[in-house]
Amino acid sequence: MPKNTKIKCVLIIGLGRIGLPQALSFAHAKIKVYGFDQNVEAVDALKAGKTPFFEPSMAKYLKATIHKTFFPHSSWPDLFKHLFEIDAIIFTISTGAPDESAIINEKELDFSSYFTLLDILFAKKTLLKKGIKLIVRTTLPLGGSDKLKECIETKYSLREGKDFYLAFVPERITEGCAIEELRTIPKIIGVYSDAAYGPIAKLFKTAGTKIIRVKNPITAEFCKLTDNSFRSTIFSYSNEIAMYASNFDIDVKEVIATVNNNYDRNFIPQPGFVSGYCLSKDPYIFASGYLKRMTGRDFQSVWFYGRKTNDYLVEFIAKKVLKQLKDPVNNCVAILGLAFKEDVDDFRISHSLKMIESLVQKKIKNIKVYDPYLDRNVYTTLSKEALFNISEKTNHLTPKFFANVDAIIVCNQHKALVDLNETKILTKLLQKTKKPCFLYDGFDIWKEAANVGHIHYEGFGFKLNSIW
Ligand SMILES: NC(=O)c1ccc[n+]([C@@H]2O[C@H](COP(=O)([O-])OP(=O)(O)OC[C@H]3O[C@@H](n4cnc5c(N)ncnc54)[C@H](O)[C@@H]3O)[C@@H](O)[C@H]2O)c1
Repeated sequence: MPKNTKIKCVLIIGLGRIGLPQALSFAHAKIKVYGFDQNVEAVDALKAGKTPFFEPSMAKYLKATIHKTFFPHSSWPDLFKHLFEIDAIIFTISTGAPDESAIINEKELDFSSYFTLLDILFAKKTLLKKGIKLIVRTTLPLGGSDKLKECIETKYSLREGKDFYLAFVPERITEGCAIEELRTIPKIIGVYSDAAYGPIAKLFKTAGTKIIRVKNPITAEFCKLTDNSFRSTIFSYSNEIAMYASNFDIDVKEVIATVNNNYDRNFIPQPGFVSGYCLSKDPYIFASGYLKRMTGRDFQSVWFYGRKTNDYLVEFIAKKVLKQLKDPVNNCVAILGLAFKEDVDDFRISHSLKMIESLVQKKIKNIKVYDPYLDRNVYTTLSKEALFNISEKTNHLTPKFFANVDAIIVCNQHKALVDLNETKILTKLLQKTKKPCFLYDGFDIWKEAANVGHIHYEGFGFKLNSIW
């Protein structure tokens, strides 16, 4: 490896849930990091030493690095002055979120924001270092790296392996553990040219990670999509048996515990909602182009149907709730927990928001929502369209919130919700609901509710009391 290829200074484009922890983790390891994000407010907050969303340790990392080794920007002209210093550019902006219908209609993923960014950067190609490393860390459809390489080579007359190097290094961290997992989860690296591997591997090793090199960028793309699609698919199996079991007098958790018991060939996970910014979309990204490539096959992949099954769980529960309401148009349903999983401040592509959509389609007009993280940041602020369907929102549960509620759906297991399963508090809150009231507990965290006389309590694949 030539001596001058060490990466000492990086630019990270997109300072969101992936880009910001990555930027801070490099900056903390004494690499000079420029950041760019089009969200002016978020960048201003960072410059003032405030993190725009929560991740453990992130505030500490920001305090230690801001204006020392970390320099966030929201204006290209300001950043252009520093382009000559930059050895590698890391792209973390999203490529969009396809759903089932996008896949069925064979819609291609939208790369326009990447193409626009490349136009901005390569308009200044004389300022960029020769042999600059371009590292893509977003989720790409299969062949996405090839598409970017081809675009750069043809549009700007540059050659990969000479004028620039391209690598795909997928991110696999989970929100709520980002800083920690950036150090502990192996980084998968796929490059086109051998010369790029050493400096890129060294860069990620600086931040503490183990490295796994794969044959090429498309293998790295395949690894990333395999990861999340596998997780979504195994959960879908549990959800499928839970939904089926609910037709019988069967507690599906008993079934799972029984077949897993001392039988190593089984590792069936618990059923539950499967959503969020990666698990909701990656199996569909993996499914895009599948039928075209698999000539002769006329049905979709197992991960497509797994994802569809996980999506259907929302509809399945919404239908259950509808069945319990005597006057859906006038009845009130409370959704507890809007984040896609416990104790994170992110509502994007969450099953709870899909649940609201599904209830609205069923003409349920009075919907109240609760989440302790509500309105904290852009990730937990409800869109105008979502707010249109909501009659009351709160980040703090009070007996008043439960007044006139006919049905409750517990949609995640935030600690704030789990802690309420303390008999006296829960009873006090639930006493205010309409009599009778249906409670669907998606995570078995409010079992005490079954002891409140007028509550009809149900969870996945089991019923604890049936007063009706
Ligand atoms: N969130 C996760 O847990 C996670 C995990 C692994 C991979 N990923 C993937 O990483 C990618 C990014 O996800 P994220 O959660 O960080 O998204 P995000 O929305 O939190 O971050 C993207 C950031 O890019 C900025 N941005 C968008 N377009 C821009 C542009 N043209 N110029 C400058 N800034 C721009 C946005 O303002 C935002 O701050 C996605 O493709 C996602 O699938 C996410």
